[in-house]
Amino acid sequence: MESNVVFTNYVAEAIEEVVSAVKPSKVFVLVDENTQEAALPVVQSQSDTVKGATVIVVKPGDENKNLESLSYIWQQLGDSGATRHSLLINLGGGVVTDMGAFAAATFKRGIHFVNVPTSLLAAVDASVGGKTGINFNGLKNEIGAFKDADTVIVSSIFFNTLSATEMRSGYGEMLKHALIKGSEMLSDLMKQDVLEVGRERMLDLLKENVGVKQEIVSQDPTEKGLRKALNLGHTTGHAFESLALKRKSPIPHGYAVAYGLVVELILSVMKQGFPSETMQKVANYIYENFRAFAITCDDYDEIIDFMRHDKKNVDASAINFTLLKNVGELALDSTATTDEIKAALDIYRDVMHI
Ligand SMILES: NC(=O)c1ccc[n+]([C@@H]2O[C@H](COP(=O)([O-])OP(=O)(O)OC[C@H]3O[C@@H](n4cnc5c(N)ncnc54)[C@H](O)[C@@H]3O)[C@@H](O)[C@H]2O)c1
Ligand SMILES: [Zn+2]
Repeated sequence: MESNVVFTNYVAEAIEEVVSAVKPSKVFVLVDENTQEAALPVVQSQSDTVKGATVIVVKPGDENKNLESLSYIWQQLGDSGATRHSLLINLGGGVVTDMGAFAAATFKRGIHFVNVPTSLLAAVDASVGGKTGINFNGLKNEIGAFKDADTVIVSSIFFNTLSATEMRSGYGEMLKHALIKGSEMLSDLMKQDVLEVGRERMLDLLKENVGVKQEIVSQDPTEKGLRKALNLGHTTGHAFESLALKRKSPIPHGYAVAYGLVVELILSVMKQGFPSETMQKVANYIYENFRAFAITCDDYDEIIDFMRHDKKNVDASAINFTLLKNVGELALDSTATTDEIKAALDIYRDVMHI
């Protein structure tokens, strides 16, 4: 099953439509403490369904996407009389949509749920594609299931309370989708700073951008092949995130992805004939908007070690990457040796002024 993704700034109307189709026995809304304040009143003031719904509130942040919060959600659903015919509306960032979706997928073997992403990252990535779950045993997304929402309601009305850092982080993933899709979408995104994009224009950009993920996911829902395309920038991005965490100064995921894109476009130039002027243009844009993640040559071995421990890498001698032959032309299952990665990291430091 594939979810129905609706792009609209009339969120309440879209919710009422789902409710009249599903006819749930009871409606629940899951928020975190931040979206309870920033997003819930907006929807409550417009939707009688949401006004009358039972609200479940969890603590914000990825560190709370855990078994304790999940158990709390199940408990609240049970205590408040949720049945197999109830509906859960997940109103929040990726933490709320990932965890709420998993709670709904498992409560009484599955109840209806709707994702209403309120962060740019959740709108463009987390809320769409059917991956649900929680962190467990110190590992990200260790427990979960593939389960599509009944409907995902993507809008741009919630972003005015989102920090500039969260906006840029979401834009990092949008740049990734554009690089996968083609040069027109990429140049559309690189025309401006994300903070300057108006509400209606943002909704249009989201429609096109989320479409890239939807198309890939619909062809490969359970990550057997093509879905690896969405890994672009992530082998390096995850390694940078891990290094930043070890330095005790974490970087937002979408920033790590943006820096990872630069490294992986350099590898694309080296290994797949990707045009070097385009790589340079993207690197300039990312430097202007995200600055750089600072590394020295003393960090190289550790970065490569993190890459090697990434779950997608089984072979120790070469590391797997999703690369590009050109904007919009994928080179799935590419590999690079440690020497090639070190050379790419040298160039990264050069183009990112480190
Ligand atoms: N399922 C997937 O395919 C997928 C893909 C990418 C990321 N993810 C997951 O998504 C999560 C990251 O998503 P995220 O960046 O949205 O994190 P998040 O849910 O933690 O949101 C970021 C912060 O912004 C706050 N917030 C959200 N909307 C707001 C609003 N409108 N106004 C003010 N504050 C708001 C949140 O409370 C939180 O503090 C991670 O857990 C990641 O693993 C999942
Ligand atoms: Zn990502």
